[in-house]
Amino acid sequence: MKKILFVASESVPFIKTGGLADVVGSLPKCFDKKEYDVRVIIPKYMCIDQRWKDQMKYKVHFYMNLAWRSQYVGILEMEYEGIKFYFVDNEYYFAGPRPYGEIYQDVEKFAFFSKAAISALPLLDFRPDVIHCHDWQTGLIPVMIKDIFADNEFYRGIKTIMTIHNLKFQGVWDIKTIKDITGLSEYYFAPDKLEYKKDANYLKGGIVYADAVTTVSRTYAEEIKDPFYGEGLDGLMRARSNCLTGIVNGIDYDVYDPETDPYIAYHYNADNFRKEKAKNKKALQQELGLPADNRKFMIGMVSRMTDQKGFDLVAYILDELCQEDIQFVMLGTGEERYENMFRHFDWKYHDKVSAQIYYSEAMSHKVYAGCDAFLMPSLFEPCGLSQLMSLRYGTVPIVRETGGLKDTVEPYNEYENTGTGFSFANYNAHEMLGIIRYAKSVFEKKKRNWNLIVERGMKADFSWHSSAKQYKELYDRL
Ligand code: ADP
Ligand code: GLC
Repeated sequence: MKKILFVASESVPFIKTGGLADVVGSLPKCFDKKEYDVRVIIPKYMCIDQRWKDQMKYKVHFYMNLAWRSQYVGILEMEYEGIKFYFVDNEYYFAGPRPYGEIYQDVEKFAFFSKAAISALPLLDFRPDVIHCHDWQTGLIPVMIKDIFADNEFYRGIKTIMTIHNLKFQGVWDIKTIKDITGLSEYYFAPDKLEYKKDANYLKGGIVYADAVTTVSRTYAEEIKDPFYGEGLDGLMRARSNCLTGIVNGIDYDVYDPETDPYIAYHYNADNFRKEKAKNKKALQQELGLPADNRKFMIGMVSRMTDQKGFDLVAYILDELCQEDIQFVMLGTGEERYENMFRHFDWKYHDKVSAQIYYSEAMSHKVYAGCDAFLMPSLFEPCGLSQLMSLRYGTVPIVRETGGLKDTVEPYNEYENTGTGFSFANYNAHEMLGIIRYAKSVFEKKKRNWNLIVERGMKADFSWHSSAKQYKELYDRL
């Protein structure tokens, strides 16, 4: 029996700010329980919903040194859908309305979390063969395993994997503070280790010290070796390229299933969507106060509102796009300028644009199910899950050819009648507008072909099946 521990800062169903939570919560279920014991450890944030907290059971507690500090570590546990989840409790670090706050606080919070997760293992009587770390918040783990914990018999031989979900966020702060937080010696703060532009970098530490490094799509794994996508670590990515693999994400096919989804009004599948999907569109139009007309080309977005997601392209052409017979639904929160932009367009084109500026699982499913097309013009995209969700719901993705978007959306070819979506190459607003117009023309004038695009998308397999196999191979290899 191979034992694997996932360590991450978020996981569904407990706490989620983005796709990381979807991955951490759904991938562990996809390993054969007879061969793999996969467990997950995340912080017990105060902002986790009470209904989950009520189900967590106290396991152990102890005091742990974080350099000169002595801090309380409580461990709670809960089984969810057959997977054991542990929660690290400390009210000083994990208070607050959101998982992440100011970076200077977060660097201490996640140093604490990383060390607590490792320190708790002997008390939990769980010695993983592999610790699978996700994103910068857990970047210190591979470092600590090779440093503070190296002399401890219990930890000898444990392998670490660092998975990069987003290279943009690295956990960077000044060396003096990070030394004071972690107690790591001078030795680690050199340019070939944690040092980065005179500061300390958690993710870099993870990448340097992990036994294997992965990222969430094949194209992104290539892109980050290039300065444009490399976020200052492209040199390191090139140096580590023999240990770096891209394994594309999947989605939870039980949660994202238009045949059973409790959030949507009408259930459907790849055979009956022609009739049934439109009913969801109508229900969505009515709920949003848009004209309930099936002929209108309805484009949706569900997204964190940041530059990563290509919102400046949308800002640039939305006025022009609204001259056409379309509907546009935006569900998301984030940077204020983008939130306000959509509020403005909602006011200006009230029968065309609907700005839903909040976070809602329910509404996201209604958008995935109800719209005709899903727009995701990202500047960069390590994998992207939203386009996979829309494919599964028969909502045709329109994406920029980058990272996981390039790997998962096959562009429509009108001559051969192939493809599952539409894509454009350059980060250019009018190139995007051109492809939206092209998609709209297929929707309006070639309905049969449009429906075949939908059908191919719905039938494509983006469950975890094949990617879990690749992770298994990696675990076994280590
Ligand atoms: P990222 O992790 O970069 O934000 P992904 O596409 O990998 O992008 O994952 C985003 C996840 O967050 C998806 O599950 C998406 O449905 C969800 N999401 C984003 N914004 C919202 C929102 N406002 N309401 C509900 N779900 C959202
Ligand atoms: C990050 C990326 C996104 C990816 C997700 C899960 O948030 O931005 O592209 O799908 O992690 O791996």
